[in-house]
Amino acid sequence: LITIMSDSPEKTISIGKTLGSILKPGSVICLRGDLGAGKTHFAKGVALGLGIEEHVTSPTYTIIKEYEGRMPFYHVDAYRLDDEDEAYELGLEEYLYGKGVTLIEWPERLQSVLPNDCLNINIKQNYDDNEEREFVLKPVGSEYIKIVEELKEFVCAGD
Ligand SMILES: Nc1ncnc2c1ncn2[C@@H]1O[C@H](COP(=O)(O)OP(=O)(O)OP(=O)(O)O)[C@@H](O)[C@H]1O
Ligand SMILES: [Mg+2]
Repeated sequence: LITIMSDSPEKTISIGKTLGSILKPGSVICLRGDLGAGKTHFAKGVALGLGIEEHVTSPTYTIIKEYEGRMPFYHVDAYRLDDEDEAYELGLEEYLYGKGVTLIEWPERLQSVLPNDCLNINIKQNYDDNEEREFVLKPVGSEYIKIVEELKEFVCAGD
């Protein structure tokens, strides 16, 4: 379990980019945090790290958006999912167990569809400081533990 601080939207994008550059095919990121915490900003960074040039926007109304980089990137926002049946209807399992990277905002809405192994990231806001965010990373599974160790090295080296 590691924590990384961000003091601006740009820093959040840069942390996401570093993570995106070390992710492997099939990686799943469960990104939690309140409304406006910075989940979509982080996702933009991950896309950059995956070499995606297309502009990444929130998939709130479409639930899922696909991009093509050095591997496919599936950006999911489950906020508007009514129930988990809808997740199955969208074929979410195909994405989660496919060869791309899947990043899910509001993963709590589709708990039973999620794989056991994933990288959990919780973004905490500091309500006394408008731009401060704390990223708490909880990897589940050996491959994600490795990814977090690598990320830690990169991020600390940049400090
Ligand atoms: N350190 C920071 N990191 C990320 N965003 C920040 C930071 N500081 C301020 N912000 C602002 O917070 C907002 C984050 O918006 P964003 O859409 O990324 O949040 P979100 O978590 O995806 O929200 P939602 O739950 O609605 O999908 C933006 O307006 C951004 O400018
Ligand atoms: Mg969002």
